Amino acid sequence: MSEVHQHDDAKARFSLHVWRPVLSRALSQRAAITGLIGAGVFVAAIETALPLIVGRIVDTARAGDAGGLAPILAIYATVFALFAGGVWLFIESAGKVSTRTADRLRRDCFAKLQTLEPAYFDVRPTGWLVSRLTSDCSKVTGILPWVLLDFAWCSAIIVGVVTAMFWTNPRLALWALAAVPAMALLSAVFQRFLIRAGREARRLSSAMTASYGEMLLGARTTKTLAREEANLAEFQRLSSDMNMWAMRGAILSSIYMPLMAMLAATAGALVLWQGAGWVLADEKVSLGTLIAFMQFAALFAQPVQELAQRFADILNASSAAERISSLLATEPSIVDRTDARPPERQAPIRELRFEGVDFWYREGVPVLEGFSLTARRGQTIALVGSTGGGKTTIVSLAARFYEPSAGRITIDGTDLKDIPLAWFTERIGLVPQVAHLFAGTVRDNIRYGRLDASDADIERAARRVKAHGFIEALDKGYDTEVGEGGERLSTGQRQLVALARAVLRDPQILVMDEATSSIDTATERLVQEGVDELLHGGGELHHGGADGGRISFVVAHRLSTIRRADVILVIEKGRIAEQGSHAELIARRGRYWELYTNQYAAEREREVLG
Ligand SMILES: Nc1ncnc2c1ncn2[C@@H]1O[C@H](COP(=O)(O)OP(=O)(O)OP(=O)(O)O)[C@@H](O)[C@H]1O
Ligand SMILES: [Mg+2]
Repeated sequence: MSEVHQHDDAKARFSLHVWRPVLSRALSQRAAITGLIGAGVFVAAIETALPLIVGRIVDTARAGDAGGLAPILAIYATVFALFAGGVWLFIESAGKVSTRTADRLRRDCFAKLQTLEPAYFDVRPTGWLVSRLTSDCSKVTGILPWVLLDFAWCSAIIVGVVTAMFWTNPRLALWALAAVPAMALLSAVFQRFLIRAGREARRLSSAMTASYGEMLLGARTTKTLAREEANLAEFQRLSSDMNMWAMRGAILSSIYMPLMAMLAATAGALVLWQGAGWVLADEKVSLGTLIAFMQFAALFAQPVQELAQRFADILNASSAAERISSLLATEPSIVDRTDARPPERQAPIRELRFEGVDFWYREGVPVLEGFSLTARRGQTIALVGSTGGGKTTIVSLAARFYEPSAGRITIDGTDLKDIPLAWFTERIGLVPQVAHLFAGTVRDNIRYGRLDASDADIERAARRVKAHGFIEALDKGYDTEVGEGGERLSTGQRQLVALARAVLRDPQILVMDEATSSIDTATERLVQEGVDELLHGGGELHHGGADGGRISFVVAHRLSTIRRADVILVIEKGRIAEQGSHAELIARRGRYWELYTNQYAAEREREVLG
């Protein structure tokens, strides 16, 4: 986890590049973006016009022109109504841009994740990926419309106010702008510190999230190892550090805001000080103009402050944008070659071969070396051997979760790489070592194997693998909710459901990785019978069963599965140490005989003890 986490929030440098995927999805919504930017410019124009109108009202009133006052007041009221309309438009457009961009990003990220191979997920914790889809997407799309809006609004205010001032009175304009360099400098300095504080707080916050996650996942282990106190101390350290940085940020903001307000007031005072003299001396400055300029001077603080704030927002969300853009830029490594074709024969797969396959998860740490194997239709290949030998790796390669680092895997003589992945996956049924169920009912989970299966098909599949009995006994039978990851079922029950799912699929290649974790004896017997049935049972299904139409790989830990397999491979350190039928291997009195007799003795002992 640490490897992925560390670089995350540590850096925050502005780079347009990481924002490109988000921007392009936002900008493609022409109407909403036009509304947003248009509304920003429109509101800015009104804000620029208002001081001028107020000035005119004052001058008209001073001139005692009661007749002229009414139309200007009417204009003032109309302009305010337009202002309200502009505000409504930009809030509405910002909402649209934000939700639609988030929707597109999330869908694209989800779709991208589905194209990526299992190896991608090996090195990235689930929690990390979930945050990409949730908090990162919300973060970048939450600020994006406001950034666009504010850039439009601020530019328009600056251009509008400066033009209006110089057009009305250039000398007074210079005085009104006198405080702007100080404002810009103040903002630059404070934002630097604010950004730093924000970054530290975020880094610590993500470390805290990770710590929560680890605590929750490892709750049992922690208890048994009496690690609570040490964990708590570590957590408290993170929490108080984060607190400190968050406080620093709050204190800085509390100083920054009033200072900016003071500078704005100073600008107003400068205008008043200079302008009042001119008004008194009657140097072509009316009272109305003076009042308008004081408002202009105050107005200028806003865009400076907003720009600084939005820039900080962009930096804050930059690491989120970077993670999203890197996810979207990831190319799946297992993809169809452009010339990949399904085999011409529609007949079932006859043969799957490993030809001199080398494989490693990490460069330089070989797991398989020169592995060769031929599995024919109708055969059950059992893989046995000590833990870490490479059994799961072999079946994962057969299922094309990974691709050989060297050598090749073929079906009926064609390299798997030359066959469309979808064609192949359709013909594979997999029962993994740790069966995964999705939140939903038992029925939904079995149906996952073949979406168009009827309830009767589902029940038939469950009966075949001897899962029907336990499912019926659940409080709502097939409609029982299994909980997240199937947590409400035991490990054995989960495997039974996964078995039923695989049977329903009626695959041409069946890959089964028996659970190693202990299952209660009754369920274990059921799983046993289920597997047996699946591998050797009657031919209700057209590819499996008595006509011998299926290739089965079973990573076996249990005697009965092993005994009835056609070929038993003893896998040690990524190689086939022994190969043959049960009888042959027993007669040889080698590694298999050793494994078998050990387990047999243990089994007998268990039976005796009851
Ligand atoms: N995703 C992975 N990334 C890196 N190394 C892995 C990965 N999966 C397995 N390995 C390593 O590859 C080797 C073979 O593992 P594999 O899971 O194939 O063994 P196995 O025979 O199935 O063991 P078991 O009987 O315990 O299930 C081990 O050394 C293991 O540490
Ligand atoms: Mg394994």
